[in-house]
Parts: sequence; C-alpha cells; structure tokens
Amino acid sequence: MKKYKDIVGDGGSNVVAQVGEQQARLGRRLDAVRFVVAVVSGKGGVGKSTVTANLAAAWASTGWRVGVLDADLNGPSMAKMLGVRGRALAVAGDAVDPPRSAIGVKVMSMDLLLSSDAEPLTWHAPTQQEAHTWRGTMEAQALREFLADTAWGELDALVLDLPPGTDRLTTVASLVPVLAGTVIVTIPSEVSQLVVRKSITVAQQAKTPVLGLIENMAGLFPGPDAAKLAAEAGIPFLGDVPFDRGLSLASDRGDPFVVTEPATPAARAFSAIATKIRDGLERRPRC
Ligand SMILES: Nc1ncnc2c1ncn2[C@@H]1O[C@H](COP(=O)(O)OP(=O)(O)O)[C@@H](O)[C@H]1O
Ligand SMILES: [Mg+2]
Repeated sequence: MKKYKDIVGDGGSNVVAQVGEQQARLGRRLDAVRFVVAVVSGKGGVGKSTVTANLAAAWASTGWRVGVLDADLNGPSMAKMLGVRGRALAVAGDAVDPPRSAIGVKVMSMDLLLSSDAEPLTWHAPTQQEAHTWRGTMEAQALREFLADTAWGELDALVLDLPPGTDRLTTVASLVPVLAGTVIVTIPSEVSQLVVRKSITVAQQAKTPVLGLIENMAGLFPGPDAAKLAAEAGIPFLGDVPFDRGLSLASDRGDPFVVTEPATPAARAFSAIATKIRDGLERRPRC
C-alpha cells in the first residue's frame, strides 16, 4: 500500500492549498467572534462540559450572543446538555446553521452528525501503528471544519468544550489564532490536581492566556485546596462550584442549571464565575 511518504509532493490533490483555504475561511468566520474561550482540563469527568454549558447559558441569559463548539469528537455531550440532541442541521449557503438551545446558545457537535448513539468515531489508518498519528491529523481537520463551516454569525463568545488530555489545547491553539483564553477545571483530588498542573503548563507554553481555575464538585472529596494551586501557578482562581445532584440531573435533561435553578449555590457559583470572566474579557482589547 502506498504511504504518504511514498507520494511525491501531495499526489496531485492540492491538499495544502485546500487546508490553507479552509484556515483562511476559519479566520474570516472567527473575525465575527469577540472572544473564543476554551474550557480545558487534562482530566476527564471533572465537569468541563458542565462548566461549558453553564458558562454559555449564563452569558446568553445576560444578553451575550454565544456559541458552543463541542471539541470532544469522541465523547460529545454539548448537544445533550444544551437540549438540542437530534435536531436537524440546515445548510445555509457555504455553512451549516447550528441549532440553538432554548436560551439561544448556538451548538455544533459531532453528536449532531452521528446517526447512532453507540457509534464511536473511528479513524481509519492503513495500519494500527499509524492510527495515532492519523487520529491527531483527522481531529485537527474535523475541528477546523467545524470552526470554518458553521454559520456562527456575530458572537460575543464562542466556547470550546475540549476533550480530556493535556495535548488537546495545543491543537486548538494552532487552529484558533485568536484564542482569548482558557478556563481550567479541576476537582478536589490530588489525582486531578496532578494532571491539571500539566494543563496549566501546556496553556502557558501555548502562550494562551489562562482566564482562571474553577474547582468543580467542591465539597465532594476532602482534596487539596484549588485556590492554593491557582496561587502557586500564578493564575486567577475563579471560584468553587459545589457538588449538586440536581445539577447533574438538569444536565441530563438538557437544562442549563444556572438558568433553571438560579437560586441554588451551584447556579450562583456559575453566575459569579461567568460574570468574573466576562468582566475580565470586556476590560481588555480582543487579542
Ligand atoms: N458540580 C457538579 N455536581 C454534580 N454533578 C456534576 C457536577 N459537575 C459535573 N457533574 C456531573 O459529572 C459528570 C461528568 O461531568 P462532565 O461535565 O461530563 O465532565 P467532563 O466534560 O470533564 O468529562 C456528568 O454526569 C455531570 O452531570
Ligand atoms: Mg466533556
């Protein structure tokens, strides 16, 4: 079987020009977005998607125009958490019109493209040894397409829900030239903090501003102090979000807890954090 390295040039596909054109389209698309914010954590299951959905909803409820891109291609949860699962995607001109949640958040997710619940996304490579490289390349390409070919329109914020893994931010930072910053999520456990420390380092190496650290599921475990971790890393501590079964149930229903149960401590925490981030972003020029 012929491999990439056996092909002279690009084999006549002009793939370099195609990618370049798409990257240029992505740039034009993001010109209409004031702030692109990535929600990250090296660790899985700490609440990145929950934070993304609730920050997006909190901002939308106060008048910001908000979009969410589910960058977790193999574990997409944004369509479910924002209540747009199963909505049909309409093609409008050269782009796909994203469905809107009840509060007006535009959502794009692999979940809206996959036909079956159980169907994982697989990356076909000529050999298993190449699957890893292939996956990285294909993921980057899929994200580039989602960013470039979705009709986001004018947005105040586009929130990217990243998959777990410390390396994922590097890919996104290379695709999005205008990343306003990252929000890092941890939970009160040494295991989480160990991995999250690496995420902070990656964000700093990627020269991406760190908007701050959120401690989610506060009170659930007697873990180390997240505010101390933030102080040691020299990044802002944005606040604690308590563990609340109701929040989890609301996410499963597709309700943004921050809007539907605003008086609860978890919703108040999300609102306060959303306001803090928004005020910080509004105070500085678009970067
Ligand atoms: N503060 C919280 N209280 C209760 N349940 C939570 C909280 N944060 C997240 N969850 C639940 O924990 C699970 C994992 O959260 P999720 O946002 O999917 O994590 P991640 O995106 O980091 O993998 C979900 O079922 C979610 O509803
Ligand atoms: Mg997630």
